[in-house]
Amino acid sequence: MNGKFITFEGIDGAGKSSHVEWLADWLRSWGKTVCVTREPGGTELGEKLRTLLLNDPMHLETETLLMFAARREHLAQLIEPALARGEWVICDRFSDATYAYQGGGRGLDRGKFLSLEQWVHGHVQPTLTLLFDLPLDVARERIALASRVLDRFEQERADFHERVRQAYLERAHGNPSRIRLVDANQSLEDIRKVLEKVVSTHCL
Ligand code: TYD
Repeated sequence: MNGKFITFEGIDGAGKSSHVEWLADWLRSWGKTVCVTREPGGTELGEKLRTLLLNDPMHLETETLLMFAARREHLAQLIEPALARGEWVICDRFSDATYAYQGGGRGLDRGKFLSLEQWVHGHVQPTLTLLFDLPLDVARERIALASRVLDRFEQERADFHERVRQAYLERAHGNPSRIRLVDANQSLEDIRKVLEKVVSTHCL
C-alpha cells in the first residue's frame, strides 16, 4: 500500500463531515491526488446497502454483516486500487464505526467484530484515524437543529450514543499511534489548525 488512508470518526453530531472536503482540498493544494468517500457506501452497491442500513430495521448481526459486505466491496472497487496507485483516500467512517456502533452501541460480541475485521481487511488499516470527540449534549443539540429526517442511528436514545462515544474512546486508547482524538467542541478554524498539524506530522 503506497498511498495514505485517512478515516474520520465520531458520534453523530460531532461535525466531522464538514471537515472531510476541507482536508481533501488542503491536501490537493499540496499537489496530492485525493479520493473522498464514505461508509457505509462509496460504491454503487455500497450506496444501496447504505439506504437499507440507515432506514430498515434489522437484526444486529445482519446489520454488522451488511456493514462489512459494503466495506469489502468498497475496498475491492475503490480503496485498494487508489492506495495501490499511491493516492490519498479520505473516508468518512470505517471499521472503528462498526466497533463503536454495533459493538458499543448495540452490544455485538467483540470476537465476532474482530473476526470480520480480520477477514475483510486484515491486510489494510487506516494510516491515520481522526476521532472527533465532544460531549453528548452538544452533539444532540446539533442533531436537533438539523432540519431533516433523522436516520435509524440518529434516532437512537442518548444512552446508545453515550455507549458509542465510550467505545470510540476505548478503541482510541487501544490504538494510540493510529487514532488521534480531535476536540470537536471548538471553532471550525481551530479544528482546521489541529487537522493540519496532525496530518502533516503523521502523513506528510
Ligand atoms: P453518517 O456517516 O453520520 O452520515 P451523515 O453525516 O450523512 O448522517 O451516517 C452513517 C451512520 O451509519 C452513522 O449513524 C453511523 C452508522 N454506522 C454504523 O453504525 N456502523 C458502521 O460501520 C458505519 C460505517 C456507520
